[in-house]
Amino acid sequence: MAKAKIQFVCNACGGVAPKWNGQCPECGAWNSLHETALAVASRQGGYAGVQSSVQRLAEVSAQESPRVSSGTEELDRVLGGGLIAGAVILLGGDPGIGKSTLLLQNAINVSARLKTLYVTGEESPQQVSLRAQRLHTGTNEVNILAETRCEAILEIAQSEKPKVMVIDSIQTVYSAQLQSAPGSVAQVRECTAQLVRFAKASDTTVFLVGHVTKEGTLAGPRVLEHMVDTVLYFEGDSGSRFRIVRAIKNRFGAINELGVFAMTEHGLREVTNPSAIFLSRHERPVSGSVIMVTREGTRPMLVELQALVDESPLAQPRRVTVGLEQNRLAMLLAVLHRHGGVQMYNQDVYANVVGGVRVSETGADLPLVLAVLSSFRDRPLPPDWVVFGEIGLAGEIRPVQNGEERLREAAKHGFKRAIVPMANAPRRAIEGLEVVAVARLQEALEQWR
Ligand code: TYD
Ligand code: MG
Repeated sequence: MAKAKIQFVCNACGGVAPKWNGQCPECGAWNSLHETALAVASRQGGYAGVQSSVQRLAEVSAQESPRVSSGTEELDRVLGGGLIAGAVILLGGDPGIGKSTLLLQNAINVSARLKTLYVTGEESPQQVSLRAQRLHTGTNEVNILAETRCEAILEIAQSEKPKVMVIDSIQTVYSAQLQSAPGSVAQVRECTAQLVRFAKASDTTVFLVGHVTKEGTLAGPRVLEHMVDTVLYFEGDSGSRFRIVRAIKNRFGAINELGVFAMTEHGLREVTNPSAIFLSRHERPVSGSVIMVTREGTRPMLVELQALVDESPLAQPRRVTVGLEQNRLAMLLAVLHRHGGVQMYNQDVYANVVGGVRVSETGADLPLVLAVLSSFRDRPLPPDWVVFGEIGLAGEIRPVQNGEERLREAAKHGFKRAIVPMANAPRRAIEGLEVVAVARLQEALEQWR
């Protein structure tokens, strides 16, 4: 295949230069020029020959694309209901967290129903086979290919015609069109573009494994996220047994949807009742711990927030969060001071979500404030309480979405009392659960004197 023309494009201003330069000649930004291949019209053979035509929007068939189950309910959930033909899914995460395991398991599961090709660029077929044996699943019809040249992969895929293809990983694949090394932004972007074109043209579901850089982003700063249909991230600490897969972008489903798995010696097992694992279930009530009901994606979940407040030796006390937003904590402490009369300017405050899950919604405000206060006063909250609600700067408690559903989840797990925003009070009583609806922070604090 003829070498494509190369040019260097500035990430900051989009300026084009024929040669690499430390500084963009157009806008003066440093280190922003990246190698890119100039598109060659006839590169994708027969594909260019397809005539496109204008259609009336109202007449376009809006039928839901049929979904095929991946064989794992939790994976189907994060994908928005199953695999879609022609969709490109990027799975990111730290090394060793289970990306290859999850996708190999998924490939084996669907291989009996759909033709599946697993392209490995990191491990040899023997290593993948060993892992497959460990997974102990039934029939295994997966075809495997050890190849890293993008054009070769596509050529083989075009003749093999798989319905599901896994690329492990996109950073090892390289295109002969570019001179830069595999894994560089230019290579990753170019190979992804070629694979996306292939997926759309052939209706193949393509999974890409993406490595995460030290800064925690996928290599090729967010470029890949724009090119693919769905982006899944593994979160949770690799020290714990549990693995959480979160959809952070999905053209075919809800974002922030979580799939929860446990890593066992036979691969990843799905956890269908995740509420149970995010609670540490202390034997006695402990201070600084509050249970909240969060709703990530389409499912309510009980998680435990923990706070530790300790006298600070520093002029500027620490505000440290794990799984929560740090700025939000600083803001809540200010609200607690102004509207609750509790001062913490000389205290370090640490906050954590048990189980390595990340809570990004504002419903964590009220439980977090109560956890902080509980640690500060060294007085535990009763263990059968559950709390959620957003706190506004004026000290008001604002409602969150799907309040009633959250309350039912709490009742299902045996909680007896819920402190919730006024507007989230359920119309009909929930059996076994006393709901305390509060409108202001002050009222919430008074519940627990
Ligand atoms: P892997 O899928 O190779 O991670 P990634 O592709 O994200 O780098 O996962 C490797 C880890 O999972 C490794 O530490 C071993 C562990 N593991 C198990 O505990 N049980 C298993 O059945 C398998 C296959 C892996
Ligand atoms: Mg791997």
